[in-house]
Amino acid sequence: MLLDRVKPLDAILATAQKKSLKRTLGWFQLTLMGIGCVIGTGIFVLTSVGAQKAGPGLMIAFTIAGAVCIVAAFCYAEIAAMIPVAGSAYTYSYATIGEFFAWTVGWALIMEYAIAASAVSVGWSGYFSGTVLGGLGIHLPAWLSAGPLALGGAAGGFINLPALVIALLVTGLLVIGTSESAKVNAVLVAIKVTALTAFVGLTLTSSDFSPEKFNPFLPAGLFGGWGTGVGAVGAAATMFFAYVGFDAVSTAAEETKDPQKNVPIGLVGSLLFCTVFYILVAAGAIGTLGGQPIMNAMGLPLEAGSPELARQCAMPQFADALVCSKEPLAHVLKVIGFTGFGNAIGLAAFLALPSVILVLIFGQTRIFFVMSRDGLLPEMLSTVHPKFRTPHVVTLITGIAVAVAAAFFPVGKLADISNAGTLYAFMMVAIAVMVLRVKDPERPRHFKVPGVWVIAPLTIIGCVLLFFNLPIDAMLFLPGWGALGLIVYFLYSRSHSHLGRGIIEVVDDIEGEETQIPIHPPAD
Ligand code: ALA
Repeated sequence: MLLDRVKPLDAILATAQKKSLKRTLGWFQLTLMGIGCVIGTGIFVLTSVGAQKAGPGLMIAFTIAGAVCIVAAFCYAEIAAMIPVAGSAYTYSYATIGEFFAWTVGWALIMEYAIAASAVSVGWSGYFSGTVLGGLGIHLPAWLSAGPLALGGAAGGFINLPALVIALLVTGLLVIGTSESAKVNAVLVAIKVTALTAFVGLTLTSSDFSPEKFNPFLPAGLFGGWGTGVGAVGAAATMFFAYVGFDAVSTAAEETKDPQKNVPIGLVGSLLFCTVFYILVAAGAIGTLGGQPIMNAMGLPLEAGSPELARQCAMPQFADALVCSKEPLAHVLKVIGFTGFGNAIGLAAFLALPSVILVLIFGQTRIFFVMSRDGLLPEMLSTVHPKFRTPHVVTLITGIAVAVAAAFFPVGKLADISNAGTLYAFMMVAIAVMVLRVKDPERPRHFKVPGVWVIAPLTIIGCVLLFFNLPIDAMLFLPGWGALGLIVYFLYSRSHSHLGRGIIEVVDDIEGEETQIPIHPPAD
């Protein structure tokens, strides 16, 4: 039978209990943690991509994507407070809907985190080349600062060297065991929030701000058409990236005081905070500089990241266009006369984005690690470095893949592909919450989703809606990657699975204790 391998929840919980971390976090720390993981390339860079897809409808896009994330966050909170171990949605699925679906979720998460890290690396590169190098009077030649046009890069582009280098640098830090401390996170959150607050304040009060610039409000409509990825909902599917990362808060549930109250406040609080901020930033950018898309002959927005858009953006009449900028927030401030503030915001992005890359590559390697310790991927991948005590093999493989993708692909495409994987994982978490409510209703839950039979289905509907409004290539990437995953599963993982071979292994972290529980192997 395909669906018979479900990891016993008790075994997972026994390990989690052994770990019994101190409950020290309150809602404020959780909110700070959420904001630290969430604010990044999405708002600092994809704002121009979102405007190309929806024009001023970008504000609606942020609202829709934020709403889907808030309902998903409730589901995450319930299951994370109940199954507080490493592996996130992969582990939750293993304990509820079984190994086969857990494999598909883990496989999607590997892709999601790695490609998201590539997207943030490309986003960082725009600010590095524009603000930092530009400020020093250094201009990288086009062929070194963007991927090739054939893959959707900029005109004259060949390789995005800064993106490649930052991805490799962050990988190096992770191999030697760097993790972000709460203090560093707090400083980076302060930098990001100050930068965005200054942006909102300066733009909304600027004399360049005019309500006229919001007209037409929905130049590509609400739904731009299936597979086109444009319109407000198409832009929402891309801007969803700006919220990715909040699941870090749910994984801290076991360290939270009064999690019933504080976890949802932390999750929903950080998401609400970001949603309001993002809408204000979009309003400020569009109200001052304008944000109408560049259209094709049929009156539809040119595809973001397409060679044609790159060609148009190279024309002098679009030199200042929001939709063409690789560092849109700094660009807006510079064009409306606040050059110093523009440079400061560029510097803030330059400083803060590497920590988002770090969190994403870290998350990816931990999923990889847990899957390999479960026997679903070769165990040599979970080798721990004797000196640094880090899973250096998976970290290096991941880091190189992240760097190569960052070197050759544009940020919008990477974000869309990553979103496809995240949406799948969110949907499975919503299903897992409902399955557990039916299969195991009596088990104590530190946090219960209020109105779960409304919230969980809404999460599923929201994820499906956004998924089917991604551009067609991003949509097709997931089944393609999934097909590869199925081949690996049936050729390797199914026969090597520890659970399938009668061992349940629960690993909490690299250093943590490992529990091995022999069981009778399930009938095949
Ligand atoms: N939400 C994160 C970002 O926007 C991944 O960079």
